[in-house]
Amino acid sequence: MKTQVCIIGGGPSGLLLSQLLHLKGIDTVVLERQSRDYVLGRIRAGVLEQGFTELMREAQCGERMDREGEIHEGFELSDNGVMRHVDLEKYTGGSTVMVYGQTEVTRDLYEAREKLGGVVIHNVEDVALHDLNTDTKPYVTYTLNGEEVRVDCDYVVGADGYHGPSRKAIPADVLTEYEKVYPFGWLGVLSRTKPVNPELIYAKHDRGFALCSLRSQVLSRYYIQVPLTDSVEDWSDEAFWDELKKRLPEDVAARLETGPSIEKSIAPLRSYVAEPMRWGNLFLAGDAAHIVPPTGAKGLNSAASDIYYLYHGLVAHYQNGDDSGLDSYSQKALARVWKAQRFSWWMTSILHTFPDNLPYDQKLQGTDMEYLFSSEAAMTSLAENYVGLPY
Ligand code: FAD
Ligand code: DHB
Repeated sequence: MKTQVCIIGGGPSGLLLSQLLHLKGIDTVVLERQSRDYVLGRIRAGVLEQGFTELMREAQCGERMDREGEIHEGFELSDNGVMRHVDLEKYTGGSTVMVYGQTEVTRDLYEAREKLGGVVIHNVEDVALHDLNTDTKPYVTYTLNGEEVRVDCDYVVGADGYHGPSRKAIPADVLTEYEKVYPFGWLGVLSRTKPVNPELIYAKHDRGFALCSLRSQVLSRYYIQVPLTDSVEDWSDEAFWDELKKRLPEDVAARLETGPSIEKSIAPLRSYVAEPMRWGNLFLAGDAAHIVPPTGAKGLNSAASDIYYLYHGLVAHYQNGDDSGLDSYSQKALARVWKAQRFSWWMTSILHTFPDNLPYDQKLQGTDMEYLFSSEAAMTSLAENYVGLPY
């Protein structure tokens, strides 16, 4: 098989790039290890920056998002039961975020790929990358139904998440990895219940962090901070709702509608960056190159800015023979990635209960919250990061 860009990974990064390139007449093949149903069964991010929504529209995938997604002009920050409002629109001069789940984003991208006859190959095994940094063109091999297939291409894009083979194809002496692991995870529950609040609530509490989010007016998504030693089996639905209520302001807890969970999972929190994001003819994008703790809602959004830079770099290459965008890809993407890392680390640090925090650290956490609500500059910094820094 022959293509211009072979994309490994059919998550949001890979599908979005494939769709954008297709619309510019650039041929791609997407290789995905899982089935489509499996990919669509994963419940992940829920908050989209404006840069992401614009990219979805450019990819001709924004119609349902614009119809069903909710524009949020702010969110609530609760500190041990005292809730205060963060006015994103006011502090950014008019910017907002869109609440629309990653599952729906991915479904829209799959449907768009199908409509245009895009090649997305599922259930591939043993994906291997070859000749990434030699004088000859690269190629990718995989097996499907026991047969080995070879894809010849100009470029390989590694959009295969944290565990995929692309990043691992870069020699260890070329790659620098930066990592921070947090001593807790998030237990997430999806339920067919009315969301407790029209806006998201990020709740700091001595018992641990909690987040009230939503997918629609009949579908709620809630998270609570749990120790890394906990497993999903340790948490009955009843125990989850009881604990969530304890971490929310009393009036919010009183109106919380509970119900059976339709998904329940634990995600450990981690910050990670791999540099550089290009090696020869391989480009890394999204979770393949960087991970953030979910507190700032930056995981999916950082993947989108990578795709933006890579898309424009590839279009300039194929349409004008201009390689400057590809040559500066790693540097440009990483500059924004690190700002998302800083923001996600900061949101995580001020809102969670750290098991080994000194009383001194706790005082600083409280001071950070007070400073936020007493300084226009601090609030502006939070708001401009949350809605997303410019690409
Ligand atoms: P992925 O979505 O990971 O997609 C990569 C794809 O590559 C997958 O479909 C995978 O099956 C495929 N793949 C892997 N290996 C191979 C292989 N060998 N061959 C072929 N294909 C392969 N972000 C937020 O902003 N908010 C959240 O609440 C949030 N929650 C999360 C919860 C979890 C459990 C995880 C893991 C992530 C969460 N994120 C969240 C982060 C966000 O979902 C990611 O940043 C986003 O999915 C990145 O998209 P991606 O396409 O780069 O990677
Ligand atoms: C969601 C997840 C987040 O990490 C976040 O910061 C906001 C919302 C969600 O899944 O809805």
